[in-house]
Parts: sequence; C-alpha cells; structure tokens
Amino acid sequence: MKLQSIRGMNDIFELEARLWGKIESISRKVFAAHGYTEIRTPIVENTQLFQRSVGESSDIVAKEMYSFSDRNGDSLSLRPEGTASVVRAYLQHSLMQDKAVQKFFYLGPMFRHERPQKGRYRQFYQLGVEVFGAAEALADVEVIQIQDALLKAFGIEERELHISSLGCSVCRPPYNAKLKQELDKISDKICEDCLRRKEKNPLRVFDCKNPNCQELYKGLPKMMDAICGDCQEHFADLKKGLDALGIRYKIDTSLVRGLDYYNRSAFEFVSTGEVLGAQATLSAGGRYDTLVENLGGKPTPAVGFAAGIERLALLMQEQKDSLQLRPDIYFVLPDDSAWEIALPLAAILREHGHYIETDLQKKKMKQQMKRANKLAARFVLILGESERESAKAILKNMEDGQQREISLDSLEQDLLNLLSN
Ligand code: HAM
Repeated sequence: MKLQSIRGMNDIFELEARLWGKIESISRKVFAAHGYTEIRTPIVENTQLFQRSVGESSDIVAKEMYSFSDRNGDSLSLRPEGTASVVRAYLQHSLMQDKAVQKFFYLGPMFRHERPQKGRYRQFYQLGVEVFGAAEALADVEVIQIQDALLKAFGIEERELHISSLGCSVCRPPYNAKLKQELDKISDKICEDCLRRKEKNPLRVFDCKNPNCQELYKGLPKMMDAICGDCQEHFADLKKGLDALGIRYKIDTSLVRGLDYYNRSAFEFVSTGEVLGAQATLSAGGRYDTLVENLGGKPTPAVGFAAGIERLALLMQEQKDSLQLRPDIYFVLPDDSAWEIALPLAAILREHGHYIETDLQKKKMKQQMKRANKLAARFVLILGESERESAKAILKNMEDGQQREISLDSLEQDLLNLLSN
C-alpha cells in the first residue's frame, strides 16, 4: 500500500507554509492591537460538547464529525470548530471571575467530514476570536471590525460583508412555530435534511443547498421580518457602529449560519472574486448569548467569528514570491581545511539573525557556486585551503559580481558591518 495523506487533509510546506506564517503573524498583531489573548484548547473533546453546542440539527454534528470511542469506551470527537471548546475552557477555568469582558483568539486545525473541493477540506485551519460578557452591539461591531482589518491587512480587497439578525429567545420561538407550520404544509416536497431541521431548528432550512428546497422556501416568512423590539434595537446599533467605521454591508435575510448556537447578529465576509468558486465565505460568526448557560454556566452574552486559513491563502497566492528567503551569505567551502573558521563564524552571524547557507554534502566548488546562484544569495564567501594559507577570505557580491579579499583577523566584524547595512 502506497502511503498517502488522508483525503481532504493536506501537507503545507515551503512557500505555502511561509504564506501561512505571514497570515498567522498578521493575525497575531491585529488580535493584540484589540486586546485579545491566545487560547489553545485540545483537538479532541467529548462528543457531547459539540452535540450540546453546535447542535443536533446542524450538518456538522449530524453527519460530519470524526467521532470514535477511545480505549475507555468514551465517545470523543475531533473538534469541528473552535467556539464550543473555548466556551468549555471558559467554564472549566472560571475565566469569567477576574474580568467583566474576556477576549480570546485562537488558531488551529478543525475537522469535518465534508466532500473535499477547492476551499473545502476535511482538516482545515481556522483563526478566530470569542468575546464573553458584552451584550451590547459594540462587541459585535468590534468582532466585525477585526475581520475587516484582517482582510485588509491580507490584501484581500474583493470582499463583501453580509449581516442579519436571527432573533432571540423572545421572538425566535413564535417565528419558528410559524415557520414549522408552513414547512409542514410542504413536508412531502422537502429533502430529508430539511425534515430533520424542521423538527429541531426550522430556521436552518434556509441554509439548505438543495436547489429544489431553495425554490420552495422563497416565499416563506423571514426571521429578519419577525424580530422583536430589543433585537431591532440591537441590530440598529450594529449598523450604526459599522456605519461609523465606514464598513459597508448587505443585509441578507437568508443568512442563517450552519451552527445552532447563534442568536441576534450573524455575519459573513464573502469573497467577490472568482478564485474561490462555491466556497467563497472567508470568515463568519455571530452572537451566541445562551451557549455558556446551556453548557452549565451563568447567563453570559458572547460573540465571535472564525476565518478559514486555506481560503485566505488561496486569495494570497501572488504574495508567495516575495516570501522567498534569500541567503545573506552563501559560504562556499571548497575543501574541509577551514571548517574551524567557517562553522563558528556562520553560527555567530546566524545568532545575529542573518541567513547563512552552506553546503552540507561536500560538493565541488562549482556546484556550490551554482547553488548559491540558484538561491539568489546576496554574497558568497569562499573559505578553503588557499584562503587559509593567505589568511584572507574571498567575498563576492552576487549582484554586481565584484570580488574582494577580507583578512581573517577582522572577518567576523567586517561581515557583521556589511550585513547590518
Ligand atoms: P463556520 O461558518 O462553520 O463557523 O466556519 C468559519 C469559517 O471556517 C468558514 O467561513 C470557512 O472560511 C472556514 N471553513 C469552514 N469549514 C471549512 C472546510 N471544510 N474547509 C475549509 N474551510 C472551512 C464556525 O466554525 C464558528 N465556530 C465561527 C464562530 C466563532 N462563531 C462564533 N464564534
């Protein structure tokens, strides 16, 4: 059997990995500028955590989780998303006690057994934030503003923000009852998934990808038209904050999100370019004011988002070339007679943060020069028997081809001076 990675799970290496590194370091800066601290949770959790949060009516829990019994017979799952784990950690460590508002960010792999295609994988990476303790729409505005700042910093200009309100425990139940009545009338025509949604969380039928269902639902009442006064006020504040920031948005009455825990604000940033095709949602999230309580805590308002790193990277491919690392100096060692000078010298320059490349295979000098060229080294330093005898190394500037000798006595200092310019 030829060993291969699992379908939908990818190796990330070389320039692609550098691009991911760039995405992560930009994200860390943006998160820090907004006062978010990192949280790292385990990749494996009790299956119940996701059943009770993401919800039984969601596709994720119903058919996409990687669940298994461990050796003790406990049902565990690879996390399909980050929010549930962060809430679990927030409760487990009583993180609500020290501060009124807690703001976390995370980066890491998630797992969903979906049908792989461009922008959709079985192991994928999210970066995201969760804010606890703030019921005001100002928190939603901050969470959206962070996504906008990230996408801007990534150079992703072709984007659109969609927002909606999913109501609350006051206005959603009567709406759901009405929607269910309407769905009952057409239950012989809707798909099996929607039959399940109709019973567990009717609102989620609007998320169905089946074109037949989509057509049937066009005339059905929309949550946005049924939200209560408080939800209307909250939504108005959200719009006011976005307007103040100059962040443009579209109100999307069919935006319902694929997870069960949301209430009030739901939002998605969608790519309007052509690269991503059907998987165009770059980042998404919303408010989930009842989840902390549902998982055993005190009532705690919360809001957050997550973005898919693969999708961001697909839109940033042209930035990869500029991420190629060029050696500052390529040490060409024609023989092994100057190793005791070359190796510690390379170590010192590297300690100062300079990129020094050497040959690890005792290749011929000509081949070493070739490789230095291929890697686009700025300088080549030649150090062999004849340089040792003359007590002078040869330094070649690879950009203009000029060559000069440097005395071994001052070599370290001269190279440090050269590279610091
Ligand atoms: P989600 O909409 O399921 O929300 O995922 C957020 C983002 O993760 C998507 O917009 C997409 O960019 C990326 N993503 C999701 N599934 C895949 C996949 N199979 N392959 C590649 N990328 C994918 C959540 O996960 C919520 N936890 C977000 C949230 C945080 N809500 C509140 N706080």
